Amino acid sequence: MSSLAAIAATSAPGFSHLVTVEDSLKGTQAIPPDRARHFCAELEAGHIVFLPVSPIAISQEDRELLLGRKQTSSAYHKNIAYRPAEDRITGLDASEQAEADSLRRILQEFSKRSVEFLAGFLSPYAGKWKLDYASYRPIEEEGRSARLHARNDLLHFDSFPTRPTNGARILRFFVNLNPMKSRVWLTSETFESFGPRFARAGSMLASAAGNPVTRGMRSFARTLRLPFGSRPPYDEFMHRCHNAMKEDASFQEHTPKQRWEFPPDSAWMVFTDCVSHAVLSGQYALEQTFQIPQSALVESQISPLAILEKIAGQPLTL
Ligand SMILES: [Fe+2]
Repeated sequence: MSSLAAIAATSAPGFSHLVTVEDSLKGTQAIPPDRARHFCAELEAGHIVFLPVSPIAISQEDRELLLGRKQTSSAYHKNIAYRPAEDRITGLDASEQAEADSLRRILQEFSKRSVEFLAGFLSPYAGKWKLDYASYRPIEEEGRSARLHARNDLLHFDSFPTRPTNGARILRFFVNLNPMKSRVWLTSETFESFGPRFARAGSMLASAAGNPVTRGMRSFARTLRLPFGSRPPYDEFMHRCHNAMKEDASFQEHTPKQRWEFPPDSAWMVFTDCVSHAVLSGQYALEQTFQIPQSALVESQISPLAILEKIAGQPLTL
């Protein structure tokens, strides 16, 4: 397979831009449907919608609890996840259970407020999404050690290895809770620009004959000793793409990049399945993930699923 760097160098890239929401929005305040649709279209095209002031109210007491745990807690080696459907948190050590109730309540509240805000801000998606996990990210990202495929500081498109989306898109809403420091991201090409080249150049889609995607997926599944069909072909592809990007040091070094700084108390949202992103630095962010089904998208023809199915010439979902 060609190296990702070589692929990146051979075609015109499409990149993200920042869509700043100038008016300060609060809580459940809805925006007109046309404007909501505009923001959905910008997000689906791989752009970043940025709110200089977070619309989510978080009390001073809760902020202090979140920011103050760092000196005493060994759980700060990990992110803390909140599962809304089960109303429970994961990522705490046994010794952290005394704080579990407070954290669960704070993340439950954040998740609820995020849902309320996005229901009014991105109304075409409201009620159609699948509410995924929320998370609290208390660890300084700069210099954070992690295994290669889990590293946040390497450019990638998001793919959930244990929670296949079967073609639904991954929308993430972030708030920088840090009172002093920006959260710094790099982004590179969007999936619309990068994905087709990767799909065509990669071994999975290299052959023009037969059903190359299916064959590639079977081969890939065999390599991993997975029963074929344990994940939809779409998720298999996105997961392989995620790993290949992180494994390619040359791509990481040479691909063109943009740098973004999200200041304290700002919020931003991104479809992280089409914005290749890396987190360079930052500590104390809250995040809520939504899975947006194809049927709710305003520009479904540019979704990663639609792009890949056009190349494959066949459905990639189950
Ligand atoms: Fe990511």
